[in-house]
Amino acid sequence: MNDYDYVRETQFHNDNEVGKTQLSDLMTAIFEKYGIDFRSYAVSSLKRRILKQIKDEELDTIPQLQSQVLSDSAAMGRLLGTLTIHVTAMFRDPSFYLTFRKQAVPLLRTYPYLRFWVAGCSTGEEVYSLAILLAEEGLYDRCRIYATDVSDKVLEKAQSGIFPISSMQEYTRNYQMAGGHHSFAEYYTADTDFAVLRSSLRQNIVFSAHNLVGDNSFNEFHAIFCRNVMIYFNRTLQDRAHRLFYDSLLTFGYLGLGRSENIRFTRHEKSYEPVSPGEKLYRKIQ
Ligand SMILES: C[S@@+](CC[C@H](N)C(=O)[O-])C[C@H]1O[C@@H](n2cnc3c(N)ncnc32)[C@H](O)[C@@H]1O
Repeated sequence: MNDYDYVRETQFHNDNEVGKTQLSDLMTAIFEKYGIDFRSYAVSSLKRRILKQIKDEELDTIPQLQSQVLSDSAAMGRLLGTLTIHVTAMFRDPSFYLTFRKQAVPLLRTYPYLRFWVAGCSTGEEVYSLAILLAEEGLYDRCRIYATDVSDKVLEKAQSGIFPISSMQEYTRNYQMAGGHHSFAEYYTADTDFAVLRSSLRQNIVFSAHNLVGDNSFNEFHAIFCRNVMIYFNRTLQDRAHRLFYDSLLTFGYLGLGRSENIRFTRHEKSYEPVSPGEKLYRKIQ
């Protein structure tokens, strides 16, 4: 058994309740000292990440990690990086974008001006995918996309519009499957390591920090994408986020969720209708 397994065994299997209490104490201490609120995140995913951090920092216990992050803000920064998952891709789940293009765009076209919100946008791949799709559909010039995330660090990257060239092959495939009309290479210039997206794609995007745990609605939108974010939230926090999205969407606006997320069993289930079976794209109907 390696150290990681040992910590896992002792803290969460043999002594489950103690592990849970320590985890909850850690999250409360972080909230009180730094105002960062992970108290309502799903325990299973928090647990995995905390154990990873304990291992990476060469510590043994949750209380040791707690002392470390409370006395050292750089350690808190490292923990924040571990706790927030930033995995993303351009045109992730291409069929979602294809459905949006085919079924939502024709109705969105009827509005003179459009506002979109991409919540939990990570390093921006999803935002630029939406920008490309809207540009190809002739809607980009009359829209504004608000791209938000709780992490300033990812927002900085998102704003740069620079991505590893090694990802472009996958993104090209996704783009084509998502119904892309052009050659994907038209949207970036490439050097040895990086692809720099066309700056015109950034023109109507506003990047800013927004925390779904504590912040309020800031506009009314024609469509909101919040994909692969609420999967890390517990029920209470998911309900809070859904309330926020409901309040922020115009009637007949669209809500896009991640593949393993669902509107079913939430308080707002009846306020939406699915746009297409199998896709996590919903339309607000009441
Ligand atoms: C897995 S990424 C998803 C990125 C993108 N939406 C996608 O589907 O590819 C999750 C993002 O949610 C952000 N996030 C986590 N908690 C958040 C919160 N409370 N408020 C806003 N964003 C949050 C993380 O910082 C991370 O960038």
